[in-house]
Amino acid sequence: DGFPANRLFNQGYSHTYDDVIFLPHYIDFPTDAVDLTTKLTKNINLSIPIVSSPMDTVTESAMAVSIASLGGIGIVHYNNTAVEQAALIKTAKSRRVPFVSDLTFKSPSDSVESVSEFYSSPYILVTSAGTSKSKLLGFISKFQWEALSDKDSPVSSYMKAIPCSVSSNYDLEQVAAFLAEKSLEFVPLVSDSEEIVDIASKDDVQRISAFPKFGIPSVGADGKFMVGAAVGTREQDKERLEHLVKEGVNVVVLDSSQGNSIYQIDMIKHVKRTYPEVDVIGGNVVTAYQADNLIKAGVDGLRVGMGSGSICTTQEVCAVGRGQATAVYKVASVANLSGVPVIADGGIANSGHVVKALVLGASTVMMGSFLAGSHEAPGVYLYQGDRKVKKYRGMGSLEAMTKGSDARYLGDKSKLKVAQGVVGAVADKGSVLKFLPYTMHAVKQGFQDLGASSLQSAHDLLRSEVLRLEVRTGAAQAEGGIHDLLMYEKKPF
Ligand code: XMP
Repeated sequence: DGFPANRLFNQGYSHTYDDVIFLPHYIDFPTDAVDLTTKLTKNINLSIPIVSSPMDTVTESAMAVSIASLGGIGIVHYNNTAVEQAALIKTAKSRRVPFVSDLTFKSPSDSVESVSEFYSSPYILVTSAGTSKSKLLGFISKFQWEALSDKDSPVSSYMKAIPCSVSSNYDLEQVAAFLAEKSLEFVPLVSDSEEIVDIASKDDVQRISAFPKFGIPSVGADGKFMVGAAVGTREQDKERLEHLVKEGVNVVVLDSSQGNSIYQIDMIKHVKRTYPEVDVIGGNVVTAYQADNLIKAGVDGLRVGMGSGSICTTQEVCAVGRGQATAVYKVASVANLSGVPVIADGGIANSGHVVKALVLGASTVMMGSFLAGSHEAPGVYLYQGDRKVKKYRGMGSLEAMTKGSDARYLGDKSKLKVAQGVVGAVADKGSVLKFLPYTMHAVKQGFQDLGASSLQSAHDLLRSEVLRLEVRTGAAQAEGGIHDLLMYEKKPF
């Protein structure tokens, strides 16, 4: 019944995730028995197969720590200077709590100019020089400031003392226990080098503890969250790399829409030669031929996808690319033989797409739009009508390229910029700490329906032709979605 993958993907069609559907198999284990532990690269293990995309509206420090705390990994974008990108890595590696508050510091003689200074935290810390590295003297709260008759008063006139701090190596459970034991509302997190990296409050603990737990945090040999970073393949990217390695980056992703190039092969060799402790992911690729070249050059992981992303226009602009289901299957078929894990990058819009990517041979999925619009994504929320949204843009959009990301579109030194992506908005999704555990549980249910208790077992069942697929007709796709339904609105008579 159905087709083995090997036959279905060898008929001259380029299939997307929505084009194909798995036939259910046999269940002989509970959902919770499904093991989603996986490999990002040859040397990096993850407890969930989730990677956040190196895009400037998706991954900076906050996304990186939240995804790592769930057991995945964030790849910090490089649409910034090397120093800025290294600072994002440093921030992500400076804590074991899954959030970044973006603290404001004041020196004693400073005053608060407007309520917006409390935007990212209800507390402002007062230090001797008004910096994170100077001596901690006290704090002021939004509540205190709002009650002041003279709002221009120096903070020293109404600040309160802070009784204690904890090590920034404390994780959320340790912070929660400390706050409870000392009956504190919040506590500063201080690094081994005496820098104040954040504060953790009772509210943070309560909010995050209410989310479902999933996965084991991704922590490297340094005892810190694992974090990745994207870089290009130009000469100045070698210098950028130095800054990133200094901050302890665990893996670098060579970011290109067409990764099978002399530039990338040179860079792979450079990274492997210069920083043997750092894993390198090559790509993007969509064919076995491309993959083979990068595997021979020594990549530790391969990123698959060309033009499948929600904001991508590469296929329309350049006439090159491949349907993502076909691309993942074809590349994984060769990469898995060499023990090189595959990242299915782009085109993930629901948990079913994650199941399809993983069963077709990927070890992880990389997501942009699925994570954009979350609390942890960079940028501020805006209202469009009564809808709360955040901006999400392609790194090949004119807007992003104006800021510098045109390196992704290789070797094009011309002054003419042609967009290969667009700018849009994504609806508010809340915290990734809340919705990703649900997504992962849904993925486990998909694996259970297929009788696959792990990624390895899914790959084996696919290869041995036990798992079968079919192409869905247009009508079958419509039938598989919601149909023949009106909005249910309860209106008073
Ligand atoms: P999703 O579907 O998750 O896709 O939003 C994210 C992936 O899309 C790629 N990307 C681009 N591709 N033009 C492109 O052709 C762009 O401007 C662009 N920006 C991002 C990238 O691989 C990302 O992970």
